[in-house]
Amino acid sequence: MNRISMVYDLVRLEEKAIIEAAKKRGGEIELKTYDSKDLYFDLLDGSEVPVKFGSVVLQRSASYFRNLHLTGVLESQGARVVNGLDTALKTGNKLLTSLILAKNGVPTPRTKLDFTEETALKALNELGYPAILKPTIGSWGRLVALLNDEDAAKSVIEDREEMFPLYQVYYIQEKVKRPPRDIRAIVIGDKTVAAIYRISTTTDWRTNTARGGKAENLPITNELNDLCLKASRPFGDGIFGVDLMESEDRGLLVHEVNNTTEFKNVMAQSKVDIPGMIVDYLIELSRN
Ligand SMILES: Nc1ncnc2c1ncn2[C@@H]1O[C@H](COP(=O)(O)OP(=O)(O)O)[C@@H](O)[C@H]1O
Ligand SMILES: [Mg+2]
Repeated sequence: MNRISMVYDLVRLEEKAIIEAAKKRGGEIELKTYDSKDLYFDLLDGSEVPVKFGSVVLQRSASYFRNLHLTGVLESQGARVVNGLDTALKTGNKLLTSLILAKNGVPTPRTKLDFTEETALKALNELGYPAILKPTIGSWGRLVALLNDEDAAKSVIEDREEMFPLYQVYYIQEKVKRPPRDIRAIVIGDKTVAAIYRISTTTDWRTNTARGGKAENLPITNELNDLCLKASRPFGDGIFGVDLMESEDRGLLVHEVNNTTEFKNVMAQSKVDIPGMIVDYLIELSRN
C-alpha cells in the first residue's frame, strides 16, 4: 500500500475534506495524519522520517513559521513535501514573490521596497496616494494598511518603527483601481481548477474572506488559466492559491501566490472537488 501523509496544526474544513477524499481512495493509498504540534525531530538522525511519513507529505500547517521550519526538516530528512521548502519560502514572502513575478513577465502591481521612514515617504510620493503598505510576511489582510495621504503614511510608519524588525521592511504598493472585488484561483499541478471572486460586503477595502469578503464562483477562462500557471510555475510544482485583481487600465494583475492555501470558499462556490484533486495529485506524485 502506498503511504502518504498530511501534517497540520488546525483541523479546518479543508483538512477534514482531504481526509475524506483519501478514505474514498483507500484502495490506492493510506493517508497518515500528524498534528505538527506533536512532532519533534533529531536534526542529526533523520532516518525515521521516510519510514514514518511515506512517499509524499502534504503540508497543511496554518502557522507560517511552523509550516516553513517543519517543511525544512522533513525535506532535508528525505521526505517529498508539497509544497517544498523553496516554494514555501518564496511564496510566503511578498517581496520575493513580486520579484519572481516581475522577472517572469507576470503583470503585477507597481511596488517599491525601502527600509526607513524617509525613503518610504519618497517612495510613496513617487507612487502617489492612496497607496498600500504590506508586511512582506503575513496573510488574511493583517496589517495590510491603506495610506490615503502623507499624514496617514507618517502615523502608520511611526507605529511600525516600534514593532518587530520585519515590520520595518516597507513593501509599498500602488492602490490598484479595481472593482470592489478580487480573484482567488486554485492551481493544482499544471491546472487552474477553480476560482472565485471575493467581493467586499463591508466598509473594509480589503476583500479577504477572512475580512468578510463574499465568495462567488468564477468560471475559469483560458486567459485566467494561462495567467495563473504563468504566475505559479516559477515557484515550482505544487498547490497554490493565486490572488489577482482586475485593474481598470491593465487587465488582470497578480498580487499574491499563496502556499498552503485555504480553499473552502472556492470549493463551496465552484462545486469543484478540490480535496479529491489534491489527493489525486499526491497519488500521482507518490508514483514518480
Ligand atoms: N495593490 C492593491 N490595490 C488594491 N487592493 C489591494 C492591493 N493589494 C491588496 N489589496 C486588497 O487587500 C487584500 C489583502 O492583500 P494581500 O496582498 O492579498 O495580502 P494577504 O496576504 O494579507 O491576503 C487583497 O485581497 C485585496 O483585496
Ligand atoms: Mg491575499
